[in-house]
Amino acid sequence: MEHRTTVILLLLAVVVAALPAPSHGWGVDGHIIVCQIAQGRLSDAATKAVNDLLPSDASGNLSSLCSWADKVRFRYHWSAPLHFIDTPDNLCTYNYDRDCKDEEGVKDRCVAGAINNYTSQLLTYAPSSSSSSGQYNLTEALLFLSHFIGDVHQPLHVGFSSDRGGNTIDVHWYRRKTVLHHVWDVNIIETAEKDYYDKGTDEFVDALNKNITGEWSGKVQGWEECSKNLTACPDIYASEGITAACDWAYKNVTEDSTLSDDYFDSRLPVVNLRLAQGGVRLAATLNRIFGQKAK
Ligand SMILES: *[C@@H]1O[C@H](CO)[C@@H](O)[C@H](O)[C@H]1NC(C)=O
Ligand SMILES: *[C@@H]1O[C@H](CO)[C@@H](O)[C@H](O)[C@H]1NC(C)=O
Ligand SMILES: *[C@@H]1O[C@H](CO)[C@@H](O)[C@H](O)[C@H]1NC(C)=O
Ligand SMILES: *[C@@H]1O[C@H](CO)[C@@H](O)[C@H](O)[C@H]1NC(C)=O
Ligand SMILES: *[C@@H]1O[C@H](CO)[C@@H](O)[C@H](O)[C@H]1NC(C)=O
Ligand SMILES: *[C@@H]1O[C@H](CO)[C@@H](O)[C@H](O)[C@H]1NC(C)=O
Ligand SMILES: [Zn+2]
Repeated sequence: MEHRTTVILLLLAVVVAALPAPSHGWGVDGHIIVCQIAQGRLSDAATKAVNDLLPSDASGNLSSLCSWADKVRFRYHWSAPLHFIDTPDNLCTYNYDRDCKDEEGVKDRCVAGAINNYTSQLLTYAPSSSSSSGQYNLTEALLFLSHFIGDVHQPLHVGFSSDRGGNTIDVHWYRRKTVLHHVWDVNIIETAEKDYYDKGTDEFVDALNKNITGEWSGKVQGWEECSKNLTACPDIYASEGITAACDWAYKNVTEDSTLSDDYFDSRLPVVNLRLAQGGVRLAATLNRIFGQKAK
């Protein structure tokens, strides 16, 4: 009897694990790409701190844990509003004081507030003490920050309130039924991997890194900069996000639109740019947090 229950529970777990994950920001591959770009740009001090804070089973690879924040979204129910920002419909602007709150109106509970929160927690890091001492779990702070700097670069993570960042807009991606939000989390990236990168993230990362040091090299310093003396600059990224959402993600899309080659070809450059900026800025932020000694 007990054995049977175990088998049923196991089967149930397999079924649940096989269900498509709900949309919570770049899909797994988008987060891997952002973190992989970032990891290659860390200063020595930041590399050391990141290795110190990563759990030992990650063997020094930040990108393998950059979707951790999505995995704990249900266990840490309080973290769900920290992945995105809802802005007023059709305004196409973002304002921290107006927009950074959860559905109950609690201030700071949005992805920009979370980036500030986990940045200030990580600023308490001291190399000699371990991640377990002190007030915060800095391993979690690192994994949250790395995930949220990715999320804020996904244009529809700074979207309109009434459609929940495109989550309620039904579309077809080629012949498959999905929602607009998912197209930006997953489908554009997956299609690019299939068409151009031998189905993997590694070649995608190589192609982006090539443009970061080539095509975009004159812009990279500007991406890295933070206004004033701030350590983290989520407001800049969120403002760019809602602009890209209006100019590209929502543009010309209505309920039941079919999105195919035209949409893919014109929007992929935006996705490429946002992934690259996310990676460059995650590294710049971690370098500011942990010290800027060049590699
Ligand atoms: C790090 O992890 C990512 C995602 O699991 C993987 O794609 C990548 O190849 C890994 N890198 C190394 C150096 O192991
Ligand atoms: C800040 O981090 C703490 C610890 O993870 C969490 O309890 C709190 O909800 C976070 N707040 C925001 C706005 O991110
Ligand atoms: C910090 O968080 C990680 C990930 O949730 C967990 O594995 C670890 O046990 C936590 N550390 C402490 C000291 O609570
Ligand atoms: C890199 O830049 C070239 C030239 O603008 C462009 O054709 C290509 O699509 C870009 N690739 C990526 C991954 O950004
Ligand atoms: C920036 O930081 C420096 C050194 O900590 C300080 O002297 C300067 O006043 C700060 N500037 C601003 C705009 O906060
Ligand atoms: C939107 O549609 C118009 C009319 O077909 C077209 O001229 C324009 O380029 C499209 N804009 C985008 C961003 O797709
Ligand atoms: Zn997320």
